[in-house]
Amino acid sequence: MILVIDFGSQFSQVITRRVRELGVYSEMYSYRLSLDKIKELNPKGIILSSGPHSVLDEKAIQPAEGVFDLGIPILGIGYGMQLITSHFGGQVDRISKVAQGKAVMTVTDASDLLKNTSDTQTVWLDHGDQVTEIPAGFNVQATSENVVMAMSHSDKKMYGVQFHPEVKHTTHGTDILKNFLYHICECRKEWTMKNYIDIQVKKIREQVGDRNVLCALSGGVDSSVAAVLIHKAIGDQLTCIFVDHGLLRKNEAKEVMEVFTEEFHMNVIQIDAKERFLSKLEGVTDPETKRKIIGNEFIYVFDDEAAKLKDMDFLAQGTLYTDIIESGTETAETIKSHHNVGGLPEDMEFELIEPLNTLFKDEVRELGTQLGIPDHIVWRQPFPGPGLAIRVLGEVTEEKLEIVRESDAILREEIRKAGLEREIWQYFTVLPNIRSVGVSGDKRTYDHTIGIRAVHSVDGMTSEWARIPWDVLEKISTRIVHEVDHVNRVVYDITSKPPATIEWE
Ligand code: XMP
Repeated sequence: MILVIDFGSQFSQVITRRVRELGVYSEMYSYRLSLDKIKELNPKGIILSSGPHSVLDEKAIQPAEGVFDLGIPILGIGYGMQLITSHFGGQVDRISKVAQGKAVMTVTDASDLLKNTSDTQTVWLDHGDQVTEIPAGFNVQATSENVVMAMSHSDKKMYGVQFHPEVKHTTHGTDILKNFLYHICECRKEWTMKNYIDIQVKKIREQVGDRNVLCALSGGVDSSVAAVLIHKAIGDQLTCIFVDHGLLRKNEAKEVMEVFTEEFHMNVIQIDAKERFLSKLEGVTDPETKRKIIGNEFIYVFDDEAAKLKDMDFLAQGTLYTDIIESGTETAETIKSHHNVGGLPEDMEFELIEPLNTLFKDEVRELGTQLGIPDHIVWRQPFPGPGLAIRVLGEVTEEKLEIVRESDAILREEIRKAGLEREIWQYFTVLPNIRSVGVSGDKRTYDHTIGIRAVHSVDGMTSEWARIPWDVLEKISTRIVHEVDHVNRVVYDITSKPPATIEWE
Protein backbone atom coordinates (compact mmCIF):
# COMPACT_ATOMS: atom_id res chain seq x y z
CA MET A 1 0.00 0.00 0.00
CA ILE A 2 1.17 3.50 -0.86
CA LEU A 3 0.13 6.31 1.44
CA VAL A 4 -0.49 9.70 -0.15
CA ILE A 5 -0.34 12.48 2.40
CA ASP A 6 -2.38 15.44 1.22
CA PHE A 7 -1.23 19.01 1.73
CA GLY A 8 -4.11 20.49 -0.23
CA SER A 9 -3.02 20.11 -3.83
CA GLN A 10 -5.71 19.88 -6.47
CA PHE A 11 -3.74 16.90 -7.79
CA SER A 12 -3.61 14.77 -4.62
CA GLN A 13 -6.50 12.57 -5.71
CA VAL A 14 -4.90 12.26 -9.13
CA ILE A 15 -1.72 10.88 -7.54
CA THR A 16 -3.76 8.30 -5.66
CA ARG A 17 -5.54 7.32 -8.89
CA ARG A 18 -2.28 7.08 -10.88
CA VAL A 19 -0.74 4.78 -8.30
CA ARG A 20 -3.79 2.51 -8.43
CA GLU A 21 -3.70 2.56 -12.22
CA LEU A 22 -0.17 1.19 -11.93
CA GLY A 23 -1.55 -1.77 -10.01
CA VAL A 24 -0.59 -0.67 -6.50
CA TYR A 25 -3.22 0.02 -3.87
CA SER A 26 -3.07 3.57 -2.58
CA GLU A 27 -4.99 5.70 -0.11
CA MET A 28 -4.94 9.42 0.52
CA TYR A 29 -5.06 10.97 4.00
CA SER A 30 -4.88 14.49 5.33
CA TYR A 31 -1.48 15.76 6.54
CA ARG A 32 -3.01 15.58 10.04
CA LEU A 33 -2.70 11.76 10.01
CA SER A 34 -0.95 10.66 13.20
CA LEU A 35 2.31 8.73 13.30
CA ASP A 36 0.56 5.81 15.01
CA LYS A 37 -2.01 5.59 12.25
CA ILE A 38 0.75 5.74 9.63
CA LYS A 39 2.50 2.86 11.37
CA GLU A 40 -0.77 0.94 11.54
CA LEU A 41 -1.34 1.43 7.80
CA ASN A 42 2.14 0.07 7.26
CA PRO A 43 2.71 1.60 3.80
CA LYS A 44 5.52 0.45 1.55
CA GLY A 45 6.03 4.04 0.46
CA ILE A 46 4.76 7.53 1.22
CA ILE A 47 4.06 10.33 -1.23
CA LEU A 48 3.90 13.86 0.17
CA SER A 49 1.67 15.90 -2.12
CA SER A 50 2.19 19.45 -3.19
CA GLY A 51 -0.06 22.21 -1.87
CA PRO A 52 -0.79 25.91 -1.84
CA HIS A 53 1.29 26.57 1.31
CA SER A 54 4.86 27.71 1.81
CA VAL A 55 7.38 26.04 4.12
CA LEU A 56 8.66 29.58 4.75
CA ASP A 57 5.48 30.47 6.63
CA GLU A 58 5.68 30.30 10.38
CA LYS A 59 2.65 28.06 10.52
CA ALA A 60 3.60 25.86 7.56
CA ILE A 61 1.62 22.63 7.72
CA GLN A 62 3.71 19.58 8.46
CA PRO A 63 3.27 15.81 8.34
CA ALA A 64 3.29 13.85 11.63
CA GLU A 65 6.54 14.26 13.50
CA GLY A 66 8.74 11.24 13.03
CA VAL A 67 7.49 10.40 9.55
CA PHE A 68 10.97 10.97 8.10
CA ASP A 69 12.49 8.52 10.58
CA LEU A 70 10.32 5.51 9.79
CA GLY A 71 12.71 4.10 7.19
CA ILE A 72 9.85 4.08 4.66
CA PRO A 73 10.71 5.47 1.19
CA ILE A 74 9.28 8.96 0.70
CA LEU A 75 8.63 10.88 -2.49
CA GLY A 76 7.90 14.58 -2.01
CA ILE A 77 6.21 16.46 -4.84
CA GLY A 78 6.47 20.29 -4.89
CA TYR A 79 5.58 21.35 -1.35
CA GLY A 80 6.42 17.76 -0.33
CA MET A 81 9.94 18.17 -1.73
CA GLN A 82 10.30 21.48 0.08
CA LEU A 83 9.22 19.83 3.36
CA ILE A 84 11.96 17.21 2.91
CA THR A 85 14.45 19.97 2.13
CA SER A 86 13.67 22.05 5.18
CA HIS A 87 13.48 18.99 7.45
CA PHE A 88 16.97 17.84 6.45
CA GLY A 89 18.52 21.33 6.66
CA GLY A 90 18.43 22.55 3.04
CA GLN A 91 17.22 25.92 1.86
CA VAL A 92 13.91 26.90 0.26
CA ASP A 93 13.23 30.38 -1.14
CA ARG A 94 10.32 32.22 -2.68
CA ILE A 95 10.50 33.00 -6.39
CA SER A 96 9.39 36.32 -7.80
CA LYS A 97 6.82 34.87 -10.19
CA VAL A 98 4.93 31.57 -9.82
CA ALA A 99 6.37 28.99 -12.23
CA GLN A 100 3.47 27.37 -13.99
CA GLY A 101 3.26 25.25 -17.12
CA LYS A 102 5.63 23.12 -19.13
CA ALA A 103 9.42 23.26 -18.71
CA VAL A 104 12.32 21.25 -20.09
CA MET A 105 14.32 19.36 -17.49
CA THR A 106 17.84 18.03 -17.94
CA VAL A 107 18.73 14.85 -16.11
CA THR A 108 22.18 14.81 -14.48
CA ASP A 109 21.83 11.51 -12.63
CA ALA A 110 19.67 8.90 -14.33
CA SER A 111 19.50 6.49 -11.41
CA ASP A 112 16.74 5.50 -8.98
CA LEU A 113 13.73 7.70 -9.66
CA LEU A 114 14.87 8.80 -13.11
CA LYS A 115 16.04 5.40 -14.35
CA ASN A 116 15.03 4.63 -17.95
CA THR A 117 13.77 8.12 -18.71
CA SER A 118 15.28 10.61 -21.23
CA ASP A 119 18.23 12.96 -20.77
CA THR A 120 15.95 15.89 -21.41
CA GLN A 121 12.23 15.72 -20.78
CA THR A 122 9.17 17.91 -20.46
CA VAL A 123 7.77 18.39 -16.97
CA TRP A 124 4.75 20.25 -15.60
CA LEU A 125 5.40 22.95 -13.01
CA ASP A 126 3.18 24.84 -10.62
CA HIS A 127 5.14 26.39 -7.76
CA GLY A 128 5.89 29.65 -5.97
CA ASP A 129 8.82 28.41 -3.84
CA GLN A 130 11.88 26.45 -4.88
CA VAL A 131 14.79 24.57 -3.37
CA THR A 132 17.90 26.75 -3.54
CA GLU A 133 20.19 24.49 -1.55
CA ILE A 134 19.69 20.77 -1.22
CA PRO A 135 20.28 19.21 2.21
CA ALA A 136 23.65 17.65 3.02
CA GLY A 137 23.96 14.09 1.74
CA PHE A 138 21.35 14.64 -1.00
CA ASN A 139 22.14 14.46 -4.67
CA VAL A 140 20.77 16.62 -7.51
CA GLN A 141 19.25 14.36 -10.18
CA ALA A 142 17.81 16.93 -12.58
CA THR A 143 17.60 20.67 -13.16
CA SER A 144 15.79 23.16 -15.33
CA GLU A 145 17.41 26.56 -15.86
CA ASN A 146 19.58 25.95 -12.79
CA VAL A 147 16.60 25.15 -10.57
CA VAL A 148 16.65 21.78 -8.83
CA MET A 149 13.93 19.63 -10.35
CA ALA A 150 14.77 16.30 -8.71
CA MET A 151 16.92 15.30 -5.75
CA SER A 152 17.51 12.11 -3.83
CA HIS A 153 19.19 10.45 -0.90
CA SER A 154 19.33 6.77 -1.84
CA ASP A 155 20.43 5.50 1.57
CA LYS A 156 17.60 7.27 3.34
CA LYS A 157 15.30 6.51 0.39
CA MET A 158 14.17 10.14 0.26
CA TYR A 159 13.20 11.62 -3.09
CA GLY A 160 11.93 15.00 -4.12
CA VAL A 161 10.62 16.38 -7.40
CA GLN A 162 9.68 19.98 -8.03
CA PHE A 163 7.40 19.07 -10.94
CA HIS A 164 4.19 17.04 -11.09
CA PRO A 165 4.81 13.45 -12.24
CA GLU A 166 1.08 12.69 -11.88
CA VAL A 167 0.07 15.23 -14.54
CA LYS A 168 -0.09 13.92 -18.11
CA HIS A 169 1.98 16.84 -19.50
CA THR A 170 5.01 15.43 -17.69
CA THR A 171 6.22 13.10 -20.43
CA HIS A 172 7.98 10.58 -18.17
CA GLY A 173 5.67 11.06 -15.18
CA THR A 174 4.37 7.50 -15.29
CA ASP A 175 7.89 6.06 -15.61
CA ILE A 176 9.00 8.12 -12.61
CA LEU A 177 6.08 6.87 -10.52
CA LYS A 178 6.78 3.32 -11.69
CA ASN A 179 10.41 3.66 -10.58
CA PHE A 180 9.27 4.85 -7.18
CA LEU A 181 6.66 2.10 -6.77
CA TYR A 182 8.30 -0.96 -8.28
CA HIS A 183 12.02 -0.32 -7.73
CA ILE A 184 12.31 1.93 -4.72
CA CYS A 185 9.30 0.73 -2.67
CA GLU A 186 9.41 -2.78 -4.15
CA CYS A 187 5.65 -2.88 -4.60
CA ARG A 188 4.15 -5.53 -6.82
CA LYS A 189 1.46 -4.95 -9.38
CA GLU A 190 -1.31 -6.67 -7.45
CA TRP A 191 -4.21 -4.24 -7.29
CA THR A 192 -6.95 -5.31 -9.71
CA MET A 193 -10.73 -5.21 -9.51
CA LYS A 194 -10.84 -9.00 -9.48
CA ASN A 195 -8.65 -9.00 -6.37
CA TYR A 196 -10.77 -6.30 -4.86
CA ILE A 197 -13.92 -8.40 -5.26
CA ASP A 198 -12.27 -11.45 -3.66
CA ILE A 199 -10.90 -9.40 -0.75
CA GLN A 200 -14.21 -7.63 -0.12
CA VAL A 201 -16.29 -10.80 -0.35
CA LYS A 202 -14.07 -12.41 2.28
CA LYS A 203 -14.16 -9.28 4.44
CA ILE A 204 -17.95 -8.95 4.26
CA ARG A 205 -18.42 -12.63 5.15
CA GLU A 206 -16.16 -12.26 8.16
CA GLN A 207 -17.85 -9.05 9.29
CA VAL A 208 -21.42 -10.27 8.87
CA GLY A 209 -21.10 -13.92 9.90
CA ASP A 210 -24.61 -15.36 10.03
CA ARG A 211 -26.29 -12.02 10.70
CA ASN A 212 -28.36 -9.92 8.27
CA VAL A 213 -27.82 -6.80 6.20
CA LEU A 214 -30.32 -4.19 5.09
CA CYS A 215 -29.68 -1.96 2.10
CA ALA A 216 -31.51 1.06 0.68
CA LEU A 217 -31.35 0.45 -3.04
CA SER A 218 -31.96 3.48 -5.24
CA GLY A 219 -31.00 2.07 -8.62
CA GLY A 220 -28.09 4.52 -8.78
CA VAL A 221 -24.60 3.23 -9.52
CA ASP A 222 -23.25 3.30 -5.99
CA SER A 223 -26.04 1.60 -4.06
CA SER A 224 -26.48 -0.94 -6.89
CA VAL A 225 -22.83 -1.97 -6.95
CA ALA A 226 -22.65 -2.10 -3.14
CA ALA A 227 -25.77 -4.28 -3.00
CA VAL A 228 -24.60 -6.72 -5.69
CA LEU A 229 -21.18 -7.05 -4.07
CA ILE A 230 -22.69 -7.75 -0.67
CA HIS A 231 -25.15 -10.18 -2.23
CA LYS A 232 -22.24 -12.02 -3.81
CA ALA A 233 -20.75 -12.41 -0.35
CA ILE A 234 -23.77 -13.32 1.74
CA GLY A 235 -26.67 -14.08 -0.65
CA ASP A 236 -30.07 -14.06 1.02
CA GLN A 237 -28.76 -12.58 4.24
CA LEU A 238 -29.11 -9.29 2.36
CA THR A 239 -32.49 -7.58 2.06
CA CYS A 240 -32.88 -4.43 -0.03
CA ILE A 241 -35.56 -1.81 0.28
CA PHE A 242 -36.35 0.11 -2.88
CA VAL A 243 -38.52 3.15 -2.18
CA ASP A 244 -40.46 4.32 -5.21
CA HIS A 245 -41.32 7.89 -4.24
CA GLY A 246 -43.16 8.49 -7.50
CA LEU A 247 -40.51 10.98 -8.55
CA LEU A 248 -38.48 8.59 -10.69
CA ARG A 249 -38.00 8.69 -14.43
CA LYS A 250 -40.12 6.79 -16.93
CA ASN A 251 -40.04 3.00 -16.33
CA GLU A 252 -37.23 3.38 -13.82
CA ALA A 253 -38.82 1.49 -10.95
CA LYS A 254 -39.74 -1.43 -13.19
CA GLU A 255 -36.26 -1.62 -14.71
CA VAL A 256 -34.52 -1.51 -11.35
CA MET A 257 -36.73 -4.25 -9.95
CA GLU A 258 -36.21 -6.46 -13.00
CA VAL A 259 -32.43 -6.23 -12.86
CA PHE A 260 -32.11 -7.03 -9.18
CA THR A 261 -34.85 -9.58 -8.70
CA GLU A 262 -34.76 -11.39 -12.04
CA GLU A 263 -31.10 -11.17 -13.06
CA PHE A 264 -29.46 -11.22 -9.64
CA HIS A 265 -32.18 -13.03 -7.68
CA MET A 266 -31.89 -10.63 -4.78
CA ASN A 267 -34.44 -10.00 -2.04
CA VAL A 268 -35.79 -6.57 -2.91
CA ILE A 269 -38.84 -5.10 -1.23
CA GLN A 270 -40.41 -2.45 -3.41
CA ILE A 271 -42.30 0.21 -1.51
CA ASP A 272 -44.83 2.20 -3.46
CA ALA A 273 -44.80 5.45 -1.52
CA LYS A 274 -46.00 7.73 -4.30
CA GLU A 275 -49.14 8.89 -2.51
CA ARG A 276 -47.21 9.57 0.67
CA PHE A 277 -44.69 11.80 -1.04
CA LEU A 278 -47.13 13.61 -3.30
CA SER A 279 -49.50 14.44 -0.50
CA LYS A 280 -46.65 15.85 1.59
CA LEU A 281 -45.58 17.99 -1.39
CA GLU A 282 -49.05 19.36 -2.07
CA GLY A 283 -49.06 23.17 -2.21
CA VAL A 284 -45.32 23.41 -1.51
CA THR A 285 -43.42 25.66 -3.90
CA ASP A 286 -40.17 26.57 -2.17
CA PRO A 287 -37.26 24.44 -3.53
CA GLU A 288 -35.48 23.99 -0.22
CA THR A 289 -38.71 23.04 1.55
CA LYS A 290 -39.43 20.50 -1.18
CA ARG A 291 -35.98 18.97 -0.75
CA LYS A 292 -36.32 18.78 3.02
CA ILE A 293 -39.77 17.20 2.85
CA ILE A 294 -38.55 14.53 0.45
CA GLY A 295 -35.40 13.84 2.47
CA ASN A 296 -37.33 13.45 5.69
CA GLU A 297 -40.15 11.46 4.16
CA PHE A 298 -37.64 9.05 2.69
CA ILE A 299 -36.24 8.39 6.12
CA TYR A 300 -39.72 7.88 7.62
CA VAL A 301 -40.71 5.42 4.89
CA PHE A 302 -37.46 3.54 5.18
CA ASP A 303 -37.75 3.49 8.96
CA ASP A 304 -41.30 2.12 8.82
CA GLU A 305 -40.32 -0.67 6.46
CA ALA A 306 -37.12 -1.54 8.28
CA ALA A 307 -39.06 -1.83 11.54
CA LYS A 308 -41.20 -4.57 9.97
CA LEU A 309 -38.12 -6.67 9.29
CA LYS A 310 -36.62 -8.69 12.09
CA ASP A 311 -32.99 -9.23 12.99
CA MET A 312 -31.36 -6.69 10.74
CA ASP A 313 -27.95 -5.88 12.16
CA PHE A 314 -26.17 -4.02 9.40
CA LEU A 315 -27.02 -1.17 7.07
CA ALA A 316 -25.20 -1.20 3.72
CA GLN A 317 -24.27 2.06 2.07
CA GLY A 318 -22.67 2.91 -1.24
CA THR A 319 -20.40 5.57 0.25
CA LEU A 320 -17.49 6.35 -2.06
CA TYR A 321 -13.94 7.34 -1.27
CA THR A 322 -14.60 10.86 -2.56
CA ASP A 323 -17.59 11.21 -0.16
CA ILE A 324 -15.25 10.47 2.71
CA ILE A 325 -12.52 12.79 1.49
CA GLU A 326 -15.01 15.58 0.84
CA SER A 327 -16.79 15.32 4.14
CA GLY A 328 -13.41 15.67 5.80
CA THR A 329 -12.81 19.13 4.37
CA GLU A 330 -14.09 22.45 5.58
CA THR A 331 -17.68 22.67 4.43
CA ALA A 332 -18.62 25.17 1.80
CA GLU A 333 -21.67 27.34 1.98
CA THR A 334 -24.87 25.40 1.45
CA ILE A 335 -26.13 26.20 -2.03
CA LYS A 336 -28.67 23.38 -1.96
CA SER A 337 -29.27 20.82 0.73
CA HIS A 338 -28.33 17.71 -1.22
CA HIS A 339 -30.07 14.59 -0.25
CA ASN A 340 -29.18 11.11 -1.33
CA VAL A 341 -31.97 8.64 -1.57
CA GLY A 342 -30.47 5.77 0.33
CA GLY A 343 -29.10 8.24 2.88
CA LEU A 344 -29.12 6.84 6.34
CA PRO A 345 -31.61 7.43 9.07
CA GLU A 346 -29.22 8.78 11.68
CA ASP A 347 -30.70 7.32 14.82
CA MET A 348 -31.09 3.77 13.56
CA GLU A 349 -29.14 1.21 15.47
CA PHE A 350 -27.20 -0.47 12.74
CA GLU A 351 -23.60 -1.22 12.14
CA LEU A 352 -22.51 0.17 8.79
CA ILE A 353 -21.13 -1.76 5.85
CA GLU A 354 -19.53 0.44 3.22
CA PRO A 355 -17.70 -1.83 0.78
CA LEU A 356 -16.97 0.97 -1.73
CA ASN A 357 -15.53 3.47 0.67
CA THR A 358 -12.02 3.18 -0.71
CA LEU A 359 -13.03 3.42 -4.37
CA PHE A 360 -13.30 6.26 -6.85
CA LYS A 361 -16.36 6.55 -9.09
CA ASP A 362 -14.70 5.11 -12.18
CA GLU A 363 -13.43 2.17 -10.13
CA VAL A 364 -16.98 1.57 -8.89
CA ARG A 365 -18.13 1.46 -12.51
CA GLU A 366 -15.41 -1.04 -13.36
CA LEU A 367 -16.38 -3.11 -10.33
CA GLY A 368 -20.04 -3.00 -11.38
CA THR A 369 -19.16 -4.24 -14.85
CA GLN A 370 -17.04 -7.05 -13.40
CA LEU A 371 -19.98 -8.04 -11.23
CA GLY A 372 -22.16 -8.29 -14.34
CA ILE A 373 -24.38 -5.26 -13.68
CA PRO A 374 -25.84 -3.98 -16.96
CA ASP A 375 -24.43 -0.84 -18.59
CA HIS A 376 -27.61 1.17 -18.17
CA ILE A 377 -27.10 1.06 -14.42
CA VAL A 378 -23.29 1.14 -14.34
CA TRP A 379 -23.20 4.15 -16.68
CA ARG A 380 -26.33 5.82 -15.38
CA GLN A 381 -26.05 9.58 -15.35
CA PRO A 382 -26.30 11.34 -11.99
CA PHE A 383 -29.88 11.59 -10.77
CA PRO A 384 -30.74 13.71 -7.73
CA GLY A 385 -32.26 12.10 -4.65
CA PRO A 386 -35.39 14.33 -4.77
CA GLY A 387 -35.85 13.14 -8.35
CA LEU A 388 -38.23 14.84 -10.73
CA ALA A 389 -39.69 16.94 -7.91
CA ILE A 390 -36.87 19.45 -8.37
CA ARG A 391 -37.34 19.41 -12.14
CA VAL A 392 -40.96 20.49 -11.82
CA LEU A 393 -40.46 24.06 -10.70
CA GLY A 394 -42.86 25.22 -8.03
CA GLU A 395 -45.68 22.96 -6.90
CA VAL A 396 -45.39 19.31 -7.85
CA THR A 397 -48.47 17.67 -9.31
CA GLU A 398 -48.96 14.31 -10.97
CA GLU A 399 -49.87 16.04 -14.24
CA LYS A 400 -46.65 18.06 -14.25
CA LEU A 401 -44.55 15.05 -13.29
CA GLU A 402 -46.00 13.19 -16.24
CA ILE A 403 -44.98 16.01 -18.62
CA VAL A 404 -41.43 16.10 -17.35
CA ARG A 405 -41.19 12.29 -17.30
CA GLU A 406 -42.38 11.93 -20.92
CA SER A 407 -40.22 14.74 -22.27
CA ASP A 408 -37.19 13.41 -20.40
CA ALA A 409 -37.74 9.95 -21.91
CA ILE A 410 -37.74 11.47 -25.42
CA LEU A 411 -34.59 13.47 -24.71
CA ARG A 412 -32.80 10.40 -23.39
CA GLU A 413 -33.87 8.27 -26.33
CA GLU A 414 -32.65 10.80 -28.88
CA ILE A 415 -29.35 11.38 -27.08
CA ARG A 416 -28.79 7.63 -27.08
CA LYS A 417 -29.68 7.32 -30.76
CA ALA A 418 -27.24 10.15 -31.59
CA GLY A 419 -24.48 8.23 -29.77
CA LEU A 420 -23.97 11.07 -27.27
CA GLU A 421 -24.89 9.08 -24.14
CA ARG A 422 -21.38 8.81 -22.71
CA GLU A 423 -20.24 12.14 -24.09
CA ILE A 424 -22.65 14.33 -22.15
CA TRP A 425 -22.28 14.09 -18.40
CA GLN A 426 -25.89 14.84 -17.54
CA TYR A 427 -28.99 15.70 -19.57
CA PHE A 428 -32.61 16.08 -18.59
CA THR A 429 -35.70 18.20 -19.06
CA VAL A 430 -37.29 20.65 -16.64
CA LEU A 431 -40.75 22.09 -16.43
CA PRO A 432 -40.57 25.78 -15.54
CA ASN A 433 -43.57 27.28 -13.90
CA ILE A 434 -44.65 29.22 -16.98
CA ARG A 435 -47.14 28.92 -19.80
CA SER A 436 -46.99 30.67 -23.11
CA VAL A 437 -49.10 31.19 -26.19
CA GLY A 438 -48.75 28.90 -29.19
CA VAL A 439 -50.69 27.73 -32.17
CA SER A 440 -51.77 24.24 -33.11
CA GLY A 441 -54.01 23.34 -36.07
CA ASP A 442 -55.03 27.00 -36.43
CA LYS A 443 -56.04 27.10 -32.80
CA ARG A 444 -54.51 29.20 -30.07
CA THR A 445 -52.87 27.20 -27.29
CA TYR A 446 -51.75 28.33 -23.87
CA ASP A 447 -49.47 25.60 -22.59
CA HIS A 448 -46.28 24.58 -20.82
CA THR A 449 -42.68 25.20 -21.82
CA ILE A 450 -40.06 22.45 -21.50
CA GLY A 451 -36.43 23.34 -20.79
CA ILE A 452 -33.60 21.11 -21.95
CA ARG A 453 -30.51 20.99 -19.76
CA ALA A 454 -27.37 19.17 -20.92
CA VAL A 455 -23.95 19.69 -19.37
CA HIS A 456 -20.36 18.55 -19.42
CA SER A 457 -18.82 18.19 -16.00
CA VAL A 458 -16.30 16.14 -14.08
CA ASP A 459 -17.81 16.11 -10.63
CA GLY A 460 -20.89 18.33 -10.78
CA MET A 461 -19.12 21.15 -8.96
CA THR A 462 -18.76 23.17 -12.15
CA SER A 463 -20.20 22.53 -15.58
CA GLU A 464 -20.35 23.81 -19.11
CA TRP A 465 -23.44 23.54 -21.28
CA ALA A 466 -23.18 20.84 -23.90
CA ARG A 467 -23.27 21.80 -27.56
CA ILE A 468 -25.79 19.22 -28.73
CA PRO A 469 -25.85 19.28 -32.56
CA TRP A 470 -28.74 21.36 -33.87
CA ASP A 471 -30.29 18.57 -35.88
CA VAL A 472 -30.48 16.44 -32.74
CA LEU A 473 -31.99 19.33 -30.81
CA GLU A 474 -34.50 19.88 -33.57
CA LYS A 475 -35.61 16.26 -33.44
CA ILE A 476 -35.94 16.38 -29.66
CA SER A 477 -37.93 19.59 -29.76
CA THR A 478 -40.24 18.37 -32.54
CA ARG A 479 -40.92 15.11 -30.77
CA ILE A 480 -41.59 16.77 -27.43
CA VAL A 481 -44.18 19.25 -28.77
CA HIS A 482 -45.88 16.53 -30.81
CA GLU A 483 -45.80 13.65 -28.36
CA VAL A 484 -46.16 15.26 -24.95
CA ASP A 485 -49.57 16.68 -24.13
CA HIS A 486 -49.75 20.29 -22.94
CA VAL A 487 -46.32 21.37 -24.19
CA ASN A 488 -46.14 23.98 -26.97
CA ARG A 489 -42.59 25.31 -26.57
CA VAL A 490 -39.07 23.95 -25.97
CA VAL A 491 -36.10 26.05 -24.83
CA TYR A 492 -32.43 25.17 -24.42
CA ASP A 493 -30.52 26.20 -21.30
CA ILE A 494 -27.14 27.65 -22.37
CA THR A 495 -25.80 28.61 -18.95
CA SER A 496 -22.72 27.22 -17.28
CA LYS A 497 -22.25 26.53 -13.58
CA PRO A 498 -21.46 28.94 -12.03
CA PRO A 499 -23.46 31.16 -12.14
CA ALA A 500 -26.35 28.72 -12.72
CA THR A 501 -26.54 25.37 -10.98
CA ILE A 502 -27.07 22.22 -13.00
CA GLU A 503 -30.56 21.54 -11.68
CA TRP A 504 -33.00 24.44 -11.80
CA GLU A 505 -34.06 24.07 -8.16
P1 XMP B 1 -26.46 21.37 -8.80
O1 XMP B 1 -27.88 21.56 -9.21
O2 XMP B 1 -26.22 21.63 -7.35
O3 XMP B 1 -26.17 19.82 -9.00
O4 XMP B 1 -25.50 22.10 -9.69
C1 XMP B 1 -24.91 19.23 -9.04
C2 XMP B 1 -25.10 17.73 -9.24
O5 XMP B 1 -25.74 17.17 -8.09
C3 XMP B 1 -26.98 16.58 -8.44
N1 XMP B 1 -27.91 16.89 -7.36
C4 XMP B 1 -28.20 16.03 -6.37
N2 XMP B 1 -27.77 14.78 -6.14
N3 XMP B 1 -29.12 14.69 -4.22
C5 XMP B 1 -28.26 14.11 -5.07
O6 XMP B 1 -27.91 12.95 -4.85
C6 XMP B 1 -29.57 15.96 -4.39
O7 XMP B 1 -30.36 16.47 -3.61
C7 XMP B 1 -29.09 16.65 -5.53
N4 XMP B 1 -29.32 17.90 -6.01
C8 XMP B 1 -28.57 18.02 -7.14
C9 XMP B 1 -27.36 17.20 -9.76
O8 XMP B 1 -28.23 16.35 -10.50
C10 XMP B 1 -26.02 17.39 -10.41
O9 XMP B 1 -25.55 16.17 -10.97
